[in-house]
Amino acid sequence: MALFTVAAISVFYPLSTTQATIILLIHFALGFVLTYITLEFLIFREINNIYSMLEKIKRKDLKMTWRSFQGKLNPLQRLNQEIFSLATKKQQEIDELKRLEAYRREFLADVSHELKTPIFAAQGFVHTLLDGAINDKNVREKFLKKAARSLDGLQRLVEDLLTLSQMETGQVKMNLMAEDLIELVKEQIDQLEEMAKKRHTELRIDIKGERPMLVNIDKPRVERVFRNLMENAIKYGNEGGKVTISLVQEKEYVQVTVKDDGPGIPSEHLSRIFERFYRIEKSRAKGDEGGTGLGLAIVKYICEGHNSRVSVTSKPGKGAAFSFRLDRFKLKEEKAPGKSAAVQFAP
Ligand SMILES: Nc1ncnc2c1ncn2[C@@H]1O[C@H](COP(=O)(O)OP(=O)(O)OP(=O)(O)O)[C@@H](O)[C@H]1O
Ligand SMILES: [Mg+2]
Repeated sequence: MALFTVAAISVFYPLSTTQATIILLIHFALGFVLTYITLEFLIFREINNIYSMLEKIKRKDLKMTWRSFQGKLNPLQRLNQEIFSLATKKQQEIDELKRLEAYRREFLADVSHELKTPIFAAQGFVHTLLDGAINDKNVREKFLKKAARSLDGLQRLVEDLLTLSQMETGQVKMNLMAEDLIELVKEQIDQLEEMAKKRHTELRIDIKGERPMLVNIDKPRVERVFRNLMENAIKYGNEGGKVTISLVQEKEYVQVTVKDDGPGIPSEHLSRIFERFYRIEKSRAKGDEGGTGLGLAIVKYICEGHNSRVSVTSKPGKGAAFSFRLDRFKLKEEKAPGKSAAVQFAP
């Protein structure tokens, strides 16, 4: 370029050798600096960015934000962006697969553990009977009752597992009908009265809204939700405590809260208690009181089947409150009370 410029100038202005050399050198230096700047700022720097990005990807450090790419459209930066988005996506897929794999392993271990306990217990009682205890009338009855209780527990566990797996695979259809929520809750309170009495727990219902309070629900399943939440509140609440079921009617839905005044749930467990088999360590150690840890997982799925979400709030020492919403039944809807409307349950 410098030679070409000098040649072009010398056509119009005859140049001495010194002048030609100076122009040549100045032009060469300028050209060099310009080329260097272009390469350095537009290409080398971006290639360096790509290298440092690849380094980060290798270290799984994908904390870069999309904002760092905004407004830049040069092809190398776009390449940089593409690599970043591809790596982020792949890393997310790998993390999800690892999580599922760990979940599957944990699930198998949990199921085997939960099945083992009642089977071993029943087996122990039956074998003791066969080994001679059957001849003692008192022991015979006691052991048979214990074996029966273990087998009942086993049946409940298998039923819960079946319900959960059906819900997860989307096989369960909610049979929505108009039902009076107040009546439903009162029935549940009656059914749990014995259990509450044993722990001297007071069961209260707090109603804000019209009577009957018609909601669009799958009755047996919503009963299950109340039973699980109320049983938990009684089991894990304080002895002599109070459990309040509040029903607050809003325009479109009824806000339901089941609240106890027990020790509550430590904040580190709050996000996990709806997982299958998840129990807080202390309650696991309580033996008889602790269940299988499936109750809240079932509650979560049933609420989702009613287009709702169950949430929990708890302050240590001040009890726990579980809330969810149920759609109100509207007369102008096509379905008359008692008529069923099946909805596909989302997996
Ligand atoms: N009201 C509550 N107060 C304190 N802890 C609670 C309360 N409700 C639930 N939990 C904790 O959450 C855990 C999970 O509850 P979940 O109902 O899923 O299982 P579970 O009661 O142990 O067994 P299951 O309901 O299957 O018989 C319980 O083990 C308990 O530790
Ligand atoms: Mg429970």
